[in-house]
Amino acid sequence: MDTLNTLEKAFAQFQHDYPSFDAEALQELRAREYSRLDALGHIYLDYTGGGLYAQSQLDAHMQMLRGGVYGNPHSSNPTSLVVTELAEHARAYVLDYFHASPDEYTVIFTQNASGALKLVGESYPFGPGDLYVLTFDNHNSVNGIREFARAKGATFAYAPVKPPELRIDEARLEALLDQNHTGHHKLFAYPAQSNFSGVQHSLEWIGRAQAKGWDVLLDAAAFAPSNRLDLSQWHPDFVSLSFYKIFGYPTGVGCLIGRRATLNKLHRPWFAGGTITIASVQGDGYYLREGEAAFEDGTIDYLNIPAVEIGLRHIAAVGIEPIHIRVMCLTDWLIKHLLDLHHNNGIPLVHFYGPTNTINRGGTVTINFFDPSGKLFDYREVESEANQINISLRTGCFCNPGAGEQAHGLTREDLADCFGKEERMTFEDFIQAMSGRVKDAVGAVRVSLGIASQFSDVYRFMQFASTFLDRKA
Ligand SMILES: Cc1ncc(COP(=O)(O)O)c(C=O)c1O
Repeated sequence: MDTLNTLEKAFAQFQHDYPSFDAEALQELRAREYSRLDALGHIYLDYTGGGLYAQSQLDAHMQMLRGGVYGNPHSSNPTSLVVTELAEHARAYVLDYFHASPDEYTVIFTQNASGALKLVGESYPFGPGDLYVLTFDNHNSVNGIREFARAKGATFAYAPVKPPELRIDEARLEALLDQNHTGHHKLFAYPAQSNFSGVQHSLEWIGRAQAKGWDVLLDAAAFAPSNRLDLSQWHPDFVSLSFYKIFGYPTGVGCLIGRRATLNKLHRPWFAGGTITIASVQGDGYYLREGEAAFEDGTIDYLNIPAVEIGLRHIAAVGIEPIHIRVMCLTDWLIKHLLDLHHNNGIPLVHFYGPTNTINRGGTVTINFFDPSGKLFDYREVESEANQINISLRTGCFCNPGAGEQAHGLTREDLADCFGKEERMTFEDFIQAMSGRVKDAVGAVRVSLGIASQFSDVYRFMQFASTFLDRKA
Protein backbone atom coordinates (compact mmCIF):
# COMPACT_ATOMS: atom_id res chain seq x y z
CA MET A 1 0.00 0.00 0.00
CA ASP A 2 1.57 3.27 -1.03
CA THR A 3 0.21 5.15 1.99
CA LEU A 4 2.25 2.82 4.13
CA ASN A 5 5.57 3.69 2.50
CA THR A 6 6.69 5.80 5.35
CA LEU A 7 5.08 6.97 8.52
CA GLU A 8 5.89 10.60 7.73
CA LYS A 9 4.38 10.46 4.26
CA ALA A 10 1.29 8.71 5.53
CA PHE A 11 0.92 11.22 8.37
CA ALA A 12 1.19 14.15 5.97
CA GLN A 13 -1.55 12.63 3.82
CA PHE A 14 -3.63 11.93 6.95
CA GLN A 15 -3.36 15.55 8.08
CA HIS A 16 -4.39 16.68 4.63
CA ASP A 17 -7.40 14.32 4.62
CA TYR A 18 -8.46 15.08 8.21
CA PRO A 19 -7.98 18.82 8.77
CA SER A 20 -10.02 18.70 11.99
CA PHE A 21 -7.42 16.41 13.59
CA ASP A 22 -5.54 18.63 16.00
CA ALA A 23 -2.15 16.93 15.83
CA GLU A 24 -0.24 19.62 17.68
CA ALA A 25 -2.48 19.60 20.72
CA LEU A 26 -2.36 15.81 20.83
CA GLN A 27 1.41 15.75 20.51
CA GLU A 28 1.72 18.18 23.38
CA LEU A 29 -0.78 16.22 25.51
CA ARG A 30 0.89 12.92 24.78
CA ALA A 31 4.38 14.25 25.60
CA ARG A 32 3.18 15.92 28.81
CA GLU A 33 0.80 13.28 30.14
CA TYR A 34 1.25 9.97 28.40
CA SER A 35 4.97 9.89 27.51
CA ARG A 36 5.36 6.45 29.10
CA LEU A 37 3.59 4.99 26.07
CA ASP A 38 6.46 6.04 23.83
CA ALA A 39 9.19 5.61 26.44
CA LEU A 40 8.17 1.97 26.85
CA GLY A 41 7.34 1.48 23.17
CA HIS A 42 3.69 0.53 23.64
CA ILE A 43 1.02 0.65 20.96
CA TYR A 44 -2.06 0.74 23.11
CA LEU A 45 -5.24 -0.21 21.28
CA ASP A 46 -7.53 -1.34 24.09
CA TYR A 47 -9.25 1.81 25.33
CA THR A 48 -12.60 0.03 25.48
CA GLY A 49 -10.94 -2.38 27.87
CA GLY A 50 -9.46 0.40 29.96
CA GLY A 51 -8.55 4.07 29.53
CA LEU A 52 -5.09 5.45 30.30
CA TYR A 53 -4.29 7.89 33.09
CA ALA A 54 -2.42 11.14 32.70
CA GLN A 55 0.70 11.86 34.72
CA SER A 56 -0.94 14.94 36.22
CA GLN A 57 -3.80 12.86 37.63
CA LEU A 58 -1.31 10.81 39.63
CA ASP A 59 0.57 13.91 40.75
CA ALA A 60 -2.59 15.66 41.91
CA HIS A 61 -3.85 12.60 43.75
CA MET A 62 -0.51 11.85 45.42
CA GLN A 63 -0.24 15.48 46.44
CA MET A 64 -3.68 15.28 48.00
CA LEU A 65 -2.79 12.08 49.87
CA ARG A 66 0.57 13.37 51.04
CA GLY A 67 -0.81 16.69 52.14
CA GLY A 68 -3.66 15.56 54.39
CA VAL A 69 -4.86 13.15 57.01
CA TYR A 70 -7.95 11.29 55.91
CA GLY A 71 -10.27 9.19 58.04
CA ASN A 72 -13.38 7.15 57.42
CA PRO A 73 -16.19 9.54 56.37
CA HIS A 74 -19.58 10.07 58.02
CA SER A 75 -18.29 11.13 61.40
CA SER A 76 -17.81 14.58 62.83
CA ASN A 77 -14.11 14.35 63.58
CA PRO A 78 -11.85 16.56 61.45
CA THR A 79 -10.20 13.80 59.40
CA SER A 80 -13.60 12.32 58.68
CA LEU A 81 -15.19 15.64 57.80
CA VAL A 82 -12.52 16.45 55.27
CA VAL A 83 -13.12 13.14 53.51
CA THR A 84 -16.88 13.60 53.51
CA GLU A 85 -16.36 16.97 51.92
CA LEU A 86 -14.00 15.62 49.25
CA ALA A 87 -16.36 12.73 48.40
CA GLU A 88 -19.41 15.01 48.22
CA HIS A 89 -17.46 17.43 46.06
CA ALA A 90 -16.59 14.60 43.69
CA ARG A 91 -20.21 13.45 43.65
CA ALA A 92 -21.39 16.92 42.72
CA TYR A 93 -18.71 17.20 40.07
CA VAL A 94 -19.79 13.95 38.39
CA LEU A 95 -23.26 15.45 37.98
CA ASP A 96 -21.76 18.67 36.74
CA TYR A 97 -19.54 16.87 34.22
CA PHE A 98 -22.53 15.06 32.72
CA HIS A 99 -24.70 18.22 32.86
CA ALA A 100 -27.12 16.40 35.15
CA SER A 101 -29.31 18.52 37.36
CA PRO A 102 -28.91 17.64 41.05
CA ASP A 103 -32.67 18.08 41.36
CA GLU A 104 -33.22 15.33 38.83
CA TYR A 105 -30.25 12.99 39.34
CA THR A 106 -27.99 11.64 42.02
CA VAL A 107 -24.69 9.76 41.83
CA ILE A 108 -24.21 6.45 43.62
CA PHE A 109 -20.59 5.38 43.79
CA THR A 110 -20.04 1.71 42.99
CA GLN A 111 -17.05 -0.52 42.34
CA ASN A 112 -17.51 -0.38 38.57
CA ALA A 113 -20.19 -0.33 35.87
CA SER A 114 -21.10 -3.92 36.74
CA GLY A 115 -21.70 -2.84 40.34
CA ALA A 116 -24.03 -0.10 39.11
CA LEU A 117 -25.91 -2.58 36.92
CA LYS A 118 -26.22 -5.07 39.74
CA LEU A 119 -27.69 -2.40 42.00
CA VAL A 120 -30.43 -1.78 39.47
CA GLY A 121 -30.98 -5.49 38.82
CA GLU A 122 -31.27 -6.55 42.43
CA SER A 123 -33.40 -3.57 43.46
CA TYR A 124 -35.74 -3.15 40.52
CA PRO A 125 -39.22 -4.17 41.69
CA PHE A 126 -39.59 -7.03 39.21
CA GLY A 127 -42.55 -9.33 39.78
CA PRO A 128 -44.90 -11.54 37.79
CA GLY A 129 -46.24 -9.62 34.80
CA ASP A 130 -43.29 -7.23 34.76
CA LEU A 131 -40.95 -6.97 31.77
CA TYR A 132 -37.25 -6.65 31.14
CA VAL A 133 -36.32 -5.86 27.54
CA LEU A 134 -32.72 -5.58 26.43
CA THR A 135 -30.80 -5.55 23.19
CA PHE A 136 -28.81 -8.60 22.04
CA ASP A 137 -25.90 -6.19 21.98
CA ASN A 138 -25.13 -5.80 25.67
CA HIS A 139 -22.33 -6.46 28.09
CA ASN A 140 -22.80 -9.53 30.26
CA SER A 141 -23.38 -7.33 33.29
CA VAL A 142 -26.55 -6.08 31.59
CA ASN A 143 -27.47 -9.59 30.46
CA GLY A 144 -27.10 -10.76 34.05
CA ILE A 145 -30.01 -8.57 35.19
CA ARG A 146 -32.29 -11.06 33.44
CA GLU A 147 -31.53 -13.52 36.25
CA PHE A 148 -33.00 -11.10 38.82
CA ALA A 149 -36.03 -10.67 36.56
CA ARG A 150 -36.38 -14.43 36.12
CA ALA A 151 -36.02 -15.16 39.83
CA LYS A 152 -38.82 -12.74 40.62
CA GLY A 153 -41.18 -14.11 37.98
CA ALA A 154 -40.84 -11.27 35.47
CA THR A 155 -40.48 -11.90 31.74
CA PHE A 156 -37.47 -10.87 29.70
CA ALA A 157 -37.03 -10.48 25.97
CA TYR A 158 -34.15 -9.60 23.67
CA ALA A 159 -34.31 -7.10 20.83
CA PRO A 160 -32.05 -8.27 17.99
CA VAL A 161 -29.35 -6.33 16.19
CA LYS A 162 -28.93 -6.85 12.46
CA PRO A 163 -25.67 -7.95 10.84
CA PRO A 164 -23.50 -6.79 9.20
CA GLU A 165 -23.74 -3.36 10.88
CA LEU A 166 -25.14 -4.83 14.10
CA ARG A 167 -27.57 -1.97 14.60
CA ILE A 168 -30.86 -2.35 16.44
CA ASP A 169 -33.68 -3.93 14.46
CA GLU A 170 -35.96 -0.94 14.99
CA ALA A 171 -39.24 -2.64 14.10
CA ARG A 172 -38.56 -5.54 16.47
CA LEU A 173 -37.56 -3.27 19.32
CA GLU A 174 -40.57 -1.02 18.74
CA ALA A 175 -42.83 -4.09 18.88
CA LEU A 176 -41.26 -5.23 22.15
CA LEU A 177 -41.62 -1.77 23.66
CA ASP A 178 -45.24 -1.60 22.51
CA GLN A 179 -46.22 -4.49 24.75
CA ASN A 180 -48.97 -3.13 26.88
CA HIS A 181 -48.57 -4.23 30.47
CA THR A 182 -50.44 -1.45 32.16
CA GLY A 183 -49.76 -1.29 35.86
CA HIS A 184 -46.58 -3.37 35.56
CA HIS A 185 -42.95 -2.41 35.88
CA LYS A 186 -41.02 -2.33 32.63
CA LEU A 187 -37.24 -1.94 32.35
CA PHE A 188 -35.43 -1.44 29.05
CA ALA A 189 -31.61 -1.65 28.95
CA TYR A 190 -29.20 -0.92 26.13
CA PRO A 191 -25.67 0.37 25.58
CA ALA A 192 -25.07 3.90 24.29
CA GLN A 193 -22.09 2.37 22.49
CA SER A 194 -21.43 -1.27 21.85
CA ASN A 195 -18.25 -2.68 23.35
CA PHE A 196 -18.39 -5.28 20.59
CA SER A 197 -18.98 -3.38 17.36
CA GLY A 198 -18.55 0.27 18.35
CA VAL A 199 -22.11 0.99 17.14
CA GLN A 200 -23.75 3.91 18.89
CA HIS A 201 -27.40 3.02 19.38
CA SER A 202 -29.61 6.06 19.15
CA LEU A 203 -30.17 7.94 22.41
CA GLU A 204 -33.63 8.74 21.01
CA TRP A 205 -34.70 5.30 22.32
CA ILE A 206 -34.56 6.71 25.84
CA GLY A 207 -37.47 9.10 25.36
CA ARG A 208 -39.30 6.77 23.01
CA ALA A 209 -39.29 3.95 25.55
CA GLN A 210 -40.14 6.24 28.45
CA ALA A 211 -43.14 7.57 26.51
CA LYS A 212 -44.38 3.98 26.38
CA GLY A 213 -44.03 3.58 30.16
CA TRP A 214 -40.55 2.05 30.36
CA ASP A 215 -37.77 2.84 32.79
CA VAL A 216 -34.57 3.11 30.79
CA LEU A 217 -31.15 1.86 31.83
CA LEU A 218 -28.43 3.29 29.59
CA ASP A 219 -25.10 1.52 29.84
CA ALA A 220 -22.64 4.30 29.03
CA ALA A 221 -19.46 2.41 30.01
CA ALA A 222 -18.08 2.24 26.45
CA PHE A 223 -19.61 5.53 25.28
CA ALA A 224 -18.48 8.02 27.92
CA PRO A 225 -14.68 7.79 27.34
CA SER A 226 -14.80 9.61 24.01
CA ASN A 227 -18.30 11.04 23.69
CA ARG A 228 -20.27 13.74 25.43
CA LEU A 229 -23.14 12.29 27.45
CA ASP A 230 -25.32 15.28 28.18
CA LEU A 231 -27.93 14.50 30.82
CA SER A 232 -29.59 17.85 30.32
CA GLN A 233 -30.51 16.66 26.83
CA TRP A 234 -31.08 12.93 27.51
CA HIS A 235 -32.95 11.71 30.54
CA PRO A 236 -32.39 7.99 31.09
CA ASP A 237 -33.54 6.65 34.46
CA PHE A 238 -30.22 4.94 35.13
CA VAL A 239 -26.72 5.33 33.71
CA SER A 240 -23.90 2.88 34.43
CA LEU A 241 -20.23 3.86 34.20
CA SER A 242 -16.72 2.73 35.13
CA PHE A 243 -14.36 5.63 35.69
CA TYR A 244 -11.16 3.77 34.77
CA LYS A 245 -12.58 3.43 31.25
CA ILE A 246 -12.77 7.22 30.98
CA PHE A 247 -9.46 8.24 32.56
CA GLY A 248 -7.54 5.13 33.58
CA TYR A 249 -7.03 5.86 37.27
CA PRO A 250 -8.28 4.96 39.77
CA THR A 251 -9.63 1.51 39.04
CA GLY A 252 -12.26 0.19 41.41
CA VAL A 253 -14.68 3.11 41.19
CA GLY A 254 -17.73 3.43 38.97
CA CYS A 255 -21.13 4.91 39.47
CA LEU A 256 -24.80 4.65 38.88
CA ILE A 257 -26.30 7.98 37.92
CA GLY A 258 -29.93 7.58 38.87
CA ARG A 259 -33.00 9.71 38.43
CA ARG A 260 -34.24 10.45 41.89
CA ALA A 261 -37.86 9.76 40.94
CA THR A 262 -37.06 6.30 39.60
CA LEU A 263 -34.62 5.43 42.40
CA ASN A 264 -37.56 5.85 44.75
CA LYS A 265 -39.22 2.81 43.32
CA LEU A 266 -36.21 0.52 43.83
CA HIS A 267 -36.18 -1.85 46.80
CA ARG A 268 -32.82 -2.81 48.17
CA PRO A 269 -32.76 -6.49 49.07
CA TRP A 270 -30.73 -5.93 52.21
CA PHE A 271 -29.22 -3.26 54.40
CA ALA A 272 -25.62 -2.70 55.32
CA GLY A 273 -23.40 -0.38 57.28
CA GLY A 274 -23.81 3.07 55.77
CA THR A 275 -27.23 2.46 54.18
CA ILE A 276 -29.45 2.78 57.24
CA THR A 277 -30.40 5.46 59.71
CA ILE A 278 -31.22 2.91 62.39
CA ALA A 279 -31.37 -0.85 62.53
CA SER A 280 -32.12 -3.07 65.47
CA VAL A 281 -31.38 -6.65 66.39
CA GLN A 282 -34.19 -7.19 68.85
CA GLY A 283 -36.57 -4.78 67.17
CA ASP A 284 -35.99 -6.76 63.96
CA GLY A 285 -36.22 -3.70 61.75
CA TYR A 286 -34.30 -0.96 59.97
CA TYR A 287 -34.81 2.33 58.18
CA LEU A 288 -32.91 2.98 54.99
CA ARG A 289 -31.22 6.30 54.47
CA GLU A 290 -32.46 8.57 51.73
CA GLY A 291 -31.04 9.09 48.25
CA GLU A 292 -27.67 7.69 47.24
CA ALA A 293 -26.77 6.72 50.80
CA ALA A 294 -29.28 3.87 50.68
CA PHE A 295 -27.27 2.30 47.84
CA GLU A 296 -23.68 2.64 48.99
CA ASP A 297 -22.91 -0.44 51.07
CA GLY A 298 -20.31 -0.05 53.77
CA THR A 299 -17.43 2.37 53.54
CA ILE A 300 -17.11 4.08 50.19
CA ASP A 301 -13.72 4.05 48.43
CA TYR A 302 -12.98 7.36 50.11
CA LEU A 303 -9.35 7.80 49.15
CA ASN A 304 -9.99 7.08 45.48
CA ILE A 305 -13.25 8.98 45.02
CA PRO A 306 -11.45 12.36 45.12
CA ALA A 307 -9.28 11.03 42.26
CA VAL A 308 -12.47 10.63 40.21
CA GLU A 309 -12.94 14.37 40.31
CA ILE A 310 -9.28 14.85 39.39
CA GLY A 311 -9.74 12.50 36.43
CA LEU A 312 -12.94 14.10 35.19
CA ARG A 313 -11.39 17.55 35.47
CA HIS A 314 -8.50 16.31 33.37
CA ILE A 315 -10.92 15.11 30.66
CA ALA A 316 -12.79 18.39 30.84
CA ALA A 317 -9.53 20.32 30.45
CA VAL A 318 -8.49 18.27 27.40
CA GLY A 319 -12.08 18.53 26.15
CA ILE A 320 -14.35 15.60 25.36
CA GLU A 321 -15.16 17.10 21.94
CA PRO A 322 -11.51 17.25 20.78
CA ILE A 323 -11.01 13.70 22.11
CA HIS A 324 -14.07 12.60 20.14
CA ILE A 325 -12.93 14.27 16.94
CA ARG A 326 -9.43 12.81 17.11
CA VAL A 327 -10.71 9.32 17.87
CA MET A 328 -13.16 9.47 14.98
CA CYS A 329 -10.57 10.76 12.47
CA LEU A 330 -8.25 7.89 13.40
CA THR A 331 -11.12 5.39 13.29
CA ASP A 332 -12.15 6.57 9.83
CA TRP A 333 -8.59 6.26 8.53
CA LEU A 334 -8.20 2.84 10.10
CA ILE A 335 -11.45 1.47 8.66
CA LYS A 336 -10.76 2.82 5.17
CA HIS A 337 -7.25 1.39 5.11
CA LEU A 338 -8.33 -1.98 6.48
CA LEU A 339 -11.01 -2.11 3.78
CA ASP A 340 -8.28 -1.52 1.20
CA LEU A 341 -6.29 -4.59 2.19
CA HIS A 342 -6.71 -7.35 -0.40
CA HIS A 343 -4.69 -10.44 -1.08
CA ASN A 344 -3.10 -10.72 -4.52
CA ASN A 345 -6.06 -12.79 -5.71
CA GLY A 346 -8.42 -9.91 -4.85
CA ILE A 347 -9.92 -11.51 -1.70
CA PRO A 348 -10.28 -8.98 1.15
CA LEU A 349 -8.05 -9.63 4.17
CA VAL A 350 -10.41 -8.21 6.76
CA HIS A 351 -14.00 -8.93 7.73
CA PHE A 352 -15.71 -6.29 9.88
CA TYR A 353 -18.30 -6.83 12.60
CA GLY A 354 -20.09 -3.49 12.66
CA PRO A 355 -20.29 -0.44 10.43
CA THR A 356 -17.54 0.22 7.89
CA ASN A 357 -18.08 3.96 8.10
CA THR A 358 -18.07 6.45 10.95
CA ILE A 359 -21.79 7.19 11.00
CA ASN A 360 -23.17 6.66 14.51
CA ARG A 361 -20.28 4.63 15.75
CA GLY A 362 -17.37 5.10 18.10
CA GLY A 363 -13.69 4.22 18.03
CA THR A 364 -14.03 0.47 18.60
CA VAL A 365 -13.37 -1.67 15.54
CA THR A 366 -13.87 -5.44 15.57
CA ILE A 367 -12.57 -7.63 12.78
CA ASN A 368 -11.19 -10.98 11.73
CA PHE A 369 -8.47 -11.75 9.22
CA PHE A 370 -8.98 -14.27 6.42
CA ASP A 371 -6.35 -15.80 4.14
CA PRO A 372 -6.43 -15.82 0.30
CA SER A 373 -8.51 -19.03 0.33
CA GLY A 374 -11.01 -17.48 2.76
CA LYS A 375 -9.70 -19.42 5.76
CA LEU A 376 -9.80 -17.67 9.11
CA PHE A 377 -6.67 -16.61 10.98
CA ASP A 378 -7.32 -17.73 14.55
CA TYR A 379 -7.75 -14.60 16.67
CA ARG A 380 -5.53 -16.11 19.35
CA GLU A 381 -2.73 -16.36 16.81
CA VAL A 382 -3.34 -12.74 15.75
CA GLU A 383 -3.17 -11.59 19.36
CA SER A 384 -0.02 -13.55 20.03
CA GLU A 385 1.71 -11.98 17.02
CA ALA A 386 0.53 -8.51 18.12
CA ASN A 387 1.86 -9.15 21.62
CA GLN A 388 5.30 -9.82 20.21
CA ILE A 389 5.54 -6.27 18.87
CA ASN A 390 4.03 -4.62 21.93
CA ILE A 391 0.60 -3.98 20.40
CA SER A 392 -2.11 -4.29 23.06
CA LEU A 393 -5.39 -5.28 21.45
CA ARG A 394 -8.16 -7.53 22.70
CA THR A 395 -9.59 -10.71 21.24
CA GLY A 396 -12.47 -13.07 21.99
CA CYS A 397 -16.09 -12.20 22.64
CA PHE A 398 -15.58 -9.11 24.85
CA CYS A 399 -18.20 -10.19 27.43
CA ASN A 400 -20.87 -9.45 24.83
CA PRO A 401 -22.19 -12.85 23.74
CA GLY A 402 -25.38 -11.53 22.11
CA ALA A 403 -23.65 -9.26 19.62
CA GLY A 404 -21.16 -12.05 18.94
CA GLU A 405 -23.89 -14.63 18.33
CA GLN A 406 -25.61 -12.34 15.85
CA ALA A 407 -22.35 -11.30 14.19
CA HIS A 408 -21.25 -14.90 13.71
CA GLY A 409 -24.67 -16.17 12.64
CA LEU A 410 -25.40 -18.40 15.64
CA THR A 411 -29.01 -19.25 16.34
CA ARG A 412 -30.97 -20.35 19.40
CA GLU A 413 -30.87 -23.92 18.02
CA ASP A 414 -27.08 -23.79 17.70
CA LEU A 415 -26.76 -22.92 21.36
CA ALA A 416 -29.61 -24.96 22.77
CA ASP A 417 -27.55 -27.99 23.79
CA CYS A 418 -24.77 -26.01 25.51
CA PHE A 419 -26.55 -25.00 28.68
CA GLY A 420 -28.59 -26.50 31.49
CA LYS A 421 -26.40 -29.60 31.69
CA GLU A 422 -25.27 -31.34 34.85
CA GLU A 423 -21.69 -31.14 33.73
CA ARG A 424 -20.13 -27.72 33.35
CA MET A 425 -19.01 -26.97 29.79
CA THR A 426 -15.51 -25.50 29.54
CA PHE A 427 -14.77 -22.49 27.35
CA GLU A 428 -12.63 -24.71 25.11
CA ASP A 429 -15.49 -27.23 24.75
CA PHE A 430 -17.82 -24.36 23.90
CA ILE A 431 -15.49 -22.97 21.22
CA GLN A 432 -15.07 -26.46 19.83
CA ALA A 433 -18.83 -27.02 19.69
CA MET A 434 -19.51 -23.66 18.08
CA SER A 435 -16.75 -23.78 15.50
CA GLY A 436 -18.77 -26.25 13.45
CA ARG A 437 -21.87 -24.07 13.60
CA VAL A 438 -20.71 -20.49 13.06
CA LYS A 439 -20.65 -18.98 9.61
CA ASP A 440 -17.14 -17.60 10.08
CA ALA A 441 -15.52 -17.50 13.52
CA VAL A 442 -16.10 -17.76 17.24
CA GLY A 443 -14.54 -14.57 18.48
CA ALA A 444 -12.73 -11.68 16.86
CA VAL A 445 -9.99 -9.08 17.17
CA ARG A 446 -10.89 -5.71 18.71
CA VAL A 447 -8.98 -2.48 18.30
CA SER A 448 -10.15 0.54 20.25
CA LEU A 449 -8.91 4.11 20.36
CA GLY A 450 -9.01 6.80 23.00
CA ILE A 451 -7.67 9.94 24.57
CA ALA A 452 -3.97 9.39 23.83
CA SER A 453 -4.28 7.59 20.48
CA GLN A 454 -2.15 9.12 17.78
CA PHE A 455 -1.65 8.50 14.09
CA SER A 456 1.39 6.26 14.54
CA ASP A 457 -0.72 3.84 16.64
CA VAL A 458 -3.18 3.13 13.84
CA TYR A 459 -0.37 3.23 11.28
CA ARG A 460 1.57 0.57 13.18
CA PHE A 461 -1.56 -1.52 13.43
CA MET A 462 -2.03 -1.25 9.66
CA GLN A 463 1.55 -2.39 9.15
CA PHE A 464 0.84 -5.31 11.45
CA ALA A 465 -2.40 -6.15 9.60
CA SER A 466 -0.53 -6.06 6.26
CA THR A 467 1.74 -8.88 7.44
CA PHE A 468 -1.25 -11.23 7.03
CA LEU A 469 -1.52 -10.44 3.33
CA ASP A 470 -0.95 -13.42 1.03
CA ARG A 471 -0.19 -15.67 3.97
CA LYS A 472 -1.82 -19.04 4.60
CA ALA A 473 -3.87 -19.32 7.79
C1 LIG B 1 -20.45 -1.52 27.48
C2 LIG B 1 -19.90 -2.06 28.78
N1 LIG B 1 -20.71 -2.18 29.83
C3 LIG B 1 -20.28 -2.63 31.01
C4 LIG B 1 -18.98 -2.98 31.19
C5 LIG B 1 -18.55 -3.51 32.53
O1 LIG B 1 -17.57 -2.70 33.06
P1 LIG B 1 -16.79 -3.16 34.37
O2 LIG B 1 -16.09 -4.44 34.01
O3 LIG B 1 -15.85 -2.06 34.67
O4 LIG B 1 -17.80 -3.37 35.43
C6 LIG B 1 -18.09 -2.89 30.12
C7 LIG B 1 -16.68 -3.32 30.27
O5 LIG B 1 -15.98 -3.55 29.32
C8 LIG B 1 -18.56 -2.41 28.89
O6 LIG B 1 -17.75 -2.27 27.83
